[in-house]
Amino acid sequence: MAINPPIDATQTPAWAALQNHFNQLQSEGISLRDWFAADPNRTASLSFEAGDLHFDLSKNLIKPETLQLFANLAKDIKLDERIQQQYTGVHINNTEDRAVLHTALRRPASDEGKFIVDGQDTVKDVREVLDRIYAFANKVRSGEWKGVSGKEIKTVVNIGIGGSDLGPVMVYEALKAYNDKGIQARYVSNIDPNDMAEKLKGIDPETTLFIVVSKTFTTLETLTNARSARTWLLENLKAQGAIDGSDEKNAEAVAKHFIAVSTALDKVAEFGIDTENAFGFWNWVGGRYSVDSAVGTSIAIVYGPERFEDFLRGFHAIDEYFATTPFEKNVVALMGLMNVWYVNFFGAHSHAVLPYNQYLHRFPAYLQQLTMESNGKSVRWDGTPVTTQTGEIFWGEPGTNGQHAFYQLIHQGTRLIPADFIAFANTSNATKDGEQDVHELFLANFLAQTKALAFGKTADEVRAEGTDEAIVPARVFTGNRPTTSIFGDTLSPFAVGELIALYEHITLVEGTVWGLDSYDQWGVELGKVLAKQIAPAISQNDAALAEQDQSTQALINFYRAHRH
Ligand code: F6P
Repeated sequence: MAINPPIDATQTPAWAALQNHFNQLQSEGISLRDWFAADPNRTASLSFEAGDLHFDLSKNLIKPETLQLFANLAKDIKLDERIQQQYTGVHINNTEDRAVLHTALRRPASDEGKFIVDGQDTVKDVREVLDRIYAFANKVRSGEWKGVSGKEIKTVVNIGIGGSDLGPVMVYEALKAYNDKGIQARYVSNIDPNDMAEKLKGIDPETTLFIVVSKTFTTLETLTNARSARTWLLENLKAQGAIDGSDEKNAEAVAKHFIAVSTALDKVAEFGIDTENAFGFWNWVGGRYSVDSAVGTSIAIVYGPERFEDFLRGFHAIDEYFATTPFEKNVVALMGLMNVWYVNFFGAHSHAVLPYNQYLHRFPAYLQQLTMESNGKSVRWDGTPVTTQTGEIFWGEPGTNGQHAFYQLIHQGTRLIPADFIAFANTSNATKDGEQDVHELFLANFLAQTKALAFGKTADEVRAEGTDEAIVPARVFTGNRPTTSIFGDTLSPFAVGELIALYEHITLVEGTVWGLDSYDQWGVELGKVLAKQIAPAISQNDAALAEQDQSTQALINFYRAHRH
């Protein structure tokens, strides 16, 4: 099915209505203090439940009536049609002529037969691969799977980059409290040899399993690292007397210590990995949308199939909510539309994501690829230029650490930075400091920050504290710094799935408003091609050096002069 050209959101009646609304708010004066004082139901009107997460949007620069304007924009740009097309496998990634079906990765087995796309029963195929992954994971977890010298696996090393790394490492870190078997995972991504060297330190090759994860199985970093890991494995097994170095034993060692995840199983076989121990996925799974496919095999091994299933159920809960809830009540859609509001009406450039849970410390990095590789684009899906600013720079660090680093700029800087705060009512590590429950003290910080950002502190309040007049201005907080609070019960596998699906769909909503194909990533290609061209120039090929621009030549000359 051909897709229609994008609707220019900026030319819709809903956009004009939002512009009027924005102008009116500006002329009245935006004041969260006044808005809260005038409307005792403000928080109730702007709070939502989706899955088992609670969302409070009331500390944002919106009024309850703004939600209807957001919903009208969704209708004017036919967001429902785009969602429907995505969920049913229309090739909405038109620059690559692909379906975008990550939602099929987390459908229950009861959906088999319902999502036949390009002749493929997607859910059936997904469940078949999951069953194979679970069987393999159970073998490793039970100790039935043994390394070449007969020892159980204690460490899993995932080799991948981008979507083949950021998702798995983020989820591995997020769920550490659920590690029941003591299997450790490490994640190598960078082609910088330092990464591999550090990750291999202190591990025993006899008890290590490498998972080479690459959708394409052509990525320079991953294949280079996979070859280095294979060399390390064989050399160290031999040095330890675990193998004799014969071709036969080497092949056996690779078969016992390497598995792969890819859409290109032929290339996996070429690399020398037994395709019996390779798990596939499909070109309708984008790399940055793939952690819930076979790309998450390290998660299934470390935390087990049941937890992986909970994780998938979390995604599915949000998928269903997003696809079936009317836009004016659909917090997932509303968060995407509100991000557009901040970018295109308030001129915000960046968006902070601030998890109040240390286990989520890789979540902002994960979101950077998800959101910025998806929506960092200047042309629309029909090749025409965008009609407004697109993309947001997502960034963040866990609280409370960020409070002592960059929050100053969010509180008192000149830029408007919408921020999502994410917290959980329960902790896996309850601790007391005397009578004080430390988790409660932690949560008090989450609440204090969103309160300070919203309501600030006036000059009169500063003066009332007896502050010297000369430094009153420095101590004023303007407030009206928008935040969304996302509150969950526990950082469970289910909740992690929910959070990922939430931001996946936010990305889709923003991309649809801007008319983007959020599922291609042509912007990463040029650098890859140039790196291959430059590589020969670096070492000694003067002819290749001469072809470089003057700046690149000078930098290479610096390198040649300093290498030792
Ligand atoms: O170069 C960008 C990219 O294609 C990402 O989109 C992807 O997640 C990453 O590289 C890794 O790709 P692969 O899984 O094919 O190795």
